[in-house]
Amino acid sequence: LSVLSVTSELFPIIKTGGLADVAGALPFALAQEGVRVVSLLPGYPVVMKALEQIDTIREYPDLFGGAARLVSASAHQMELFVLDAPHLYDRPGSPYLTPDGRDWPDNARRFAALARIAAAIGQGEVAGFIPDIVHAHDWQAGLAPAYLHYSDLPRPGTVMTIHNISFQGIFPADLLYELGLPPDAFTVDGVEYYGQIGFLKAGLRFADRVTTVSPTYAKEIQTPEGGMGLDGLLRSRSKDVFGILNGIDESVWDPSSDKSLAATFTPDTLEGREANKAALQARLGLDADPDTILFGVVSRLSEQKGLDLVLAALPSFLADGAQLALLGAGEGILEDSFRAASIVYPGQVGCVLGYDEELAHLIQGGSDALLVPSRFEPCGLTQLCAMRYGNVPVVSRVGGLADTVIDANEMAIASGVATGFQFSPVNLTGLLDAANRVKMLWSDRDSWRRVQKNGMAAQVGWNRAAKRYAQLYRSCLEVI
Ligand code: ADP
Ligand code: GLC
Repeated sequence: LSVLSVTSELFPIIKTGGLADVAGALPFALAQEGVRVVSLLPGYPVVMKALEQIDTIREYPDLFGGAARLVSASAHQMELFVLDAPHLYDRPGSPYLTPDGRDWPDNARRFAALARIAAAIGQGEVAGFIPDIVHAHDWQAGLAPAYLHYSDLPRPGTVMTIHNISFQGIFPADLLYELGLPPDAFTVDGVEYYGQIGFLKAGLRFADRVTTVSPTYAKEIQTPEGGMGLDGLLRSRSKDVFGILNGIDESVWDPSSDKSLAATFTPDTLEGREANKAALQARLGLDADPDTILFGVVSRLSEQKGLDLVLAALPSFLADGAQLALLGAGEGILEDSFRAASIVYPGQVGCVLGYDEELAHLIQGGSDALLVPSRFEPCGLTQLCAMRYGNVPVVSRVGGLADTVIDANEMAIASGVATGFQFSPVNLTGLLDAANRVKMLWSDRDSWRRVQKNGMAAQVGWNRAAKRYAQLYRSCLEVI
């Protein structure tokens, strides 16, 4: 079975969030299931630099306003197709934003081009690789199932995965012709979304199967509260909607061999975490204190992640000497507020505002508890990394967070199965209650250690999910 995975990010080449981790890990996990995955990526500058063994497969004199070529290549042991289209991708900034943080004005064209080429590969553009399945990730790839639907040629099966329904890729209706979509596509049963063109909507409408990244999120997005306008469509397709829980790459996130740590450790050598805690405290300007509880955060700073609640909680949170180490980047107001907090609470709050892969690992290996107070969370990966690193996750009971952490309630502690803390409702009181429970457990170090070890033994890898994706791909072939 062969799959073309269409993604706008791929770890370790280009990453803004969990999508990259998933797109980067899944091909290896699926290989174990006998599925060959080749990923199609936009040729951003960092991507072009990372490529080895480049082969030009096709040239396009005019792809949405400029010359482009499709190349096959490899990088980091992954098989890739890359769309090298300098007029669309050869620029500074992030994959989606200008250096000053605005959406690129031509994002519709940039990602329609990706989807267009994905569809072409699905229909035989590359001799020697005709995928059985085109697997589209998030809105950036959402038009691929639509292009395949509107073509008369035989097509592969299609899967659309929602990593985050709050990003939908909505663009003005007058782009329809330019994007190469037929006039009759502009209906509620096509790509139209409240008078505009919805890329994610198109994918959800036309893919043979829709998946999202946890069972609970699969239910949440089918409700008006969680569906962000797409719940009706998803309910109408509910028999084709599946929640497959993400894993993490256990070779990238391995505390027994992690070079970003001050000391590696295993469940039997948890004392190694002390050196990491000391290193983290030193790095972030926190007081050197092995006994006080150190909370960590590794997150995009956005409304979704609920970190404004952490800011509001700080006065009572820190009253007993607790500490906070935060690594995050995103909305200016949150960055400014955390910067201010580190000045108001010197030695107790330390932040690095930016993106730093190594520090993310040190926080996982050196903090005692990881805060993830998200308002919604399709899956969440940092709580999985936390468990693997003996860092106790403290999460809101939503989406994939609800599906991955076993709350340390009395029975779970007594039965020896707890792996972290869950709280709801997702508000200040909920968070403060959770913090008190965490601190109670911290004062009982034997029980704490047990929760750490349970987390480290949890199945956070990709095996289960890879089997489910393989099954899903096979079921797709039966319907086309
Ligand atoms: P999302 O995709 O919504 O951002 P996830 O929890 O699925 O959330 O994935 C986030 C990924 O990005 C994790 O691998 C996490 O370690 C990483 N990450 C988030 N913020 C940063 C940062 N500032 N520096 C380094 N890594 C980060
Ligand atoms: C999104 C979600 C996150 C999920 C990730 C990978 O960015 O916000 O919850 O873990 O995609 O699927």
